[in-house]
Order: sequence, then C-alpha cells, then structure tokens
Amino acid sequence: MLAVVLPLAALAQKAQLAQPVQPPAGHPLPELFSGYRYQPEYVREIQNEDIKNPGTLWRNYGRRLWSQVDGEAGKSCADCHNVAEKAMHGVGARYPKFYPPESRPITLSERINLCRTLNMKAKPWPQGSSALVAMTTYVSAQSRGMPVRVKTDGQAKPFFEQGRDYYYSPRGERGLSCAACHERKAGKKLDAATLSQGHSNGFPAYKIATERVEPLHRQFQRCNKRVGAEPLPLGADPYVNLELYLAWRGMGLLVETPAVRNW
Ligand code: HEC
Ligand code: HEC
Repeated sequence: MLAVVLPLAALAQKAQLAQPVQPPAGHPLPELFSGYRYQPEYVREIQNEDIKNPGTLWRNYGRRLWSQVDGEAGKSCADCHNVAEKAMHGVGARYPKFYPPESRPITLSERINLCRTLNMKAKPWPQGSSALVAMTTYVSAQSRGMPVRVKTDGQAKPFFEQGRDYYYSPRGERGLSCAACHERKAGKKLDAATLSQGHSNGFPAYKIATERVEPLHRQFQRCNKRVGAEPLPLGADPYVNLELYLAWRGMGLLVETPAVRNW
C-alpha cells in the first residue's frame, strides 16, 4: 500500500512546498516561503524523491537505532514507543517545547537524549554526533508534510522573547542581525547563494556543500560566522530560544526533514 501512496503524496507535496503560507498574527512578513522555493531546480528534484535524497541515509540510520537496545535498562526506543510512524507522528512539528521539569524549552534532540538518560539509563548522544542527528532526522521526518506549530505563550513566552531579541540584535564586525539578511532580502543574491527567509522547517537538512545532514544549530553557527560573530556551541541556551522563535516565524510551513539545500 505504501508504494502506491508515497509517489502521489510526494507530487502533492512538491507542488505545495513552493507556495506562500499565511503567517501567524503579528508576523513581520506578509507571506512565508520555505527555503525550498529559493533552491535551484536540480536541488529541488533531489529533495522531491527520497531515493535521490542523500538525507534518506541519515533517516534510515535513525530507523535502525530506533529498535537498537542500549543502556542499563536494556530497552530500545521501540520497546516503549512501538512504531515511530505512529508514536512520533506530528511530534517534531511541535518542538522546541516547554519542559516543566527544567522550566525551559527543549529541542527535539534534547528530548531524545532525555529518553536515553531517564528511560534507557544510557549515555546521552553528544550534540552533533551522527547518532543524534540521525535520530532527530528520523523522528522529525515522521511529521513531514505537517505544518510547524509551536507554543510560544504561557511559560514559554520569556524564552520566545529572548529568541526574538537574538534574531534582531546586530552582531559581528558587520553589525548584521538575522533580520538584516532574512527578513526583507529573500530572493536576493548573496555571493553564490540566493537568500531565503531563513526558516527551520527543513532541518536537520542535507547540505550539498558539506555532503552531510546538519542540525539547525550548525546553520546558526554558519550564519554567525558569516557576519564575523563568534558561534555558540550546538545546544546552547540562546540557540534553543532562537530555534523556538524561528519555529514561530515559520508557523504553517510544512516540515520537510530531511530537506536538501545547496548552501
Ligand atoms: C522506557 C520507556 C522509554 C524509552 C526506552 C524511550 N522513551 Fe521516549 N518517552 C517515554 C515516555 C514515557 C515519554 C513521555 C514523556 C512525557 O509525556 O513527558 C517519552 C517521550 C518521548 C518524546 C517526546 C514526545 C512528545 O510528544 O513530545 C520523544 C521525541 C521520544 N520519547 C523519543 C524517544 C527516542 C528517540 C527513544 C530512543 C532513543 C526513546 N524515546 C526511548 C518513554 C520511553
Ligand atoms: C549576511 C547574511 C546572513 C545573516 C546575517 C544571517 N544569515 Fe542565515 N543564511 C544566509 C545565507 C546566504 C543562507 C543560505 C541561503 C538561504 O537559505 O538563505 C542562510 C541560510 C539560513 C537558514 C537555512 C534556511 C533553509 O531553508 O535552508 C537558516 C535557518 C538561517 N540562515 C538562519 C539564520 C539566523 C537565525 C540568523 C541570525 C543568527 C542568520 N541566519 C543570519 C545569510 C545570512
């Protein structure tokens, strides 16, 4: 049955991904576009078909890890969550999410590591490790085609606001904020790249330039370095807040993980 459904779904998604999306209330942009829209045709074609998309290798590695026993509790993810397609459906689209035990928002990667430490009695996977990136890709891919929908009110609000402040603060030798490039310059050229609105809906994403699936915080580091600012470590609090704010900026865009991006 899957074999029949997937190509049709892929075609429908392809048509949808380049379309504008209505932003949430109070958004600075009149309409939202996925980074997919600004990629060259050949890159979009790679993304359109899982079999051509090298990101599928990371997703498949995540699938293998899902049923692998690890840690002192002698459990795998599958032992508790069963089938990822069901248990993780829509989960990735809702992260970062406020986590009451730590009174702060956490990313999907952090949530996965919490299950490793608390539920499996296993060591957390290091930030940026292929296992953590692969599992984040696999879990996030279970929301593919679903709209990004994060909660930014209530206890999440101060963190959301810190993320927004980070987004609009000028930094680096060139004194450029994220907004300086991504808010009004989408579609304009910057060196070899075409600037997008800088959304997160494709992450973790396969980067043609590095031939790897990269977590969103790696992109933050790259964009920090671009303006001559000191990058923060993957998983740093300011990046988590920024991720929450960025998810809000892209609310309604469809999850594309693992997207394919040229730059
Ligand atoms: C011993 C059982 C157990 C194991 C093993 C386990 N989990 Fe969990 N996991 C849970 C429970 C219970 C929750 C719900 C916690 C809650 O609702 O706060 C959860 C929550 C999650 C969530 C968040 C879901 C959401 O809706 O926000 C993710 C993602 C997740 N697990 C992924 C994993 C992954 C990936 C693995 C393997 C690396 C794993 N889990 C292993 C029990 C487990
Ligand atoms: C000097 C311009 C510049 C600044 C400032 C900048 N970026 Fe970028 N960013 C780029 C370029 C170029 C790319 C690659 C092309 C694209 O997708 O826009 C990119 C890509 C991205 C992407 C990937 C989008 C996708 O769909 O793959 C995200 C997310 C992003 N930037 C976030 C940020 C954030 C957050 C900040 C602030 C910390 C920031 N950028 C600052 C130039 C910039």
